Amino acid sequence: MESRKKIYEGKAKILYSGPTSETAIQYFKDDITAGNGEQHAIIEGKGTLNNHISEFFMVGLSGAGVPNHFKKRINNREQLTVKCKVFPIEVIVRNVASGSICRRLGIEEKATFSQPIVEYYLKNDDLNDPLVNENHIVEFGWASSATLNKINSLALRANSFLLGVTNAADLRLVDFKTEYGVNVGASDSEVMMVDEISPDTCRFWDIHTDEKLDKDVFREGLGSVLAAYQEVASRLAVVS
Ligand code: TMP
Repeated sequence: MESRKKIYEGKAKILYSGPTSETAIQYFKDDITAGNGEQHAIIEGKGTLNNHISEFFMVGLSGAGVPNHFKKRINNREQLTVKCKVFPIEVIVRNVASGSICRRLGIEEKATFSQPIVEYYLKNDDLNDPLVNENHIVEFGWASSATLNKINSLALRANSFLLGVTNAADLRLVDFKTEYGVNVGASDSEVMMVDEISPDTCRFWDIHTDEKLDKDVFREGLGSVLAAYQEVASRLAVVS
């Protein structure tokens, strides 16, 4: 019998040890949270959808020159990934104003930026994931300057790819969050994208009506979260 060890449980996923020391198994839960856990619900079927949607994006990103931890989907809930040491930084790329940038800087929602805005946040629930800059990241040893440059260019390359794919599916990619790491088993491993890309971690709007089709449906109580995520999957022709 397979003996798997829980490495880490997050709000929406569980990471287990994989069949080898260089792999892990990422399990997608139906839990949905917002506001650092203040809002919480179980949306039956969400984990399955995100598993398939994330597989779709990660496979495409790999082909577009954004190496990532995805190896293969194991079943509806789980995928086999490269086991990584993850940098404690969330990278957000914004194309259109929404969410925290509006609240923080008083920018009107829907303003389109002339070029993507890249932001870094420290992953620290106790501090509420504060916004940090390159100097903080290098000074406090969260990533080296060279690694951060690499992360920045991967995030922007991912943005170009995701903009193309979503645009073709009549979706506006407003913003998205990514994380990065290095293979634990290789001393000089390349930086790769980890985690997931799904309506939990991106803002997708209908390209014609600006209808929200992502976790904001939950955050703002706009209707059926599952229906919104299913709409994203169906427009991307992701079968789950
Ligand atoms: P924000 O506007 O709340 O800063 O979020 C920007 C994008 O990043 C949005 O698509 C949601 C995503 N995001 C996460 O996936 N996890 C997080 O912890 C946060 C704060 C944002």
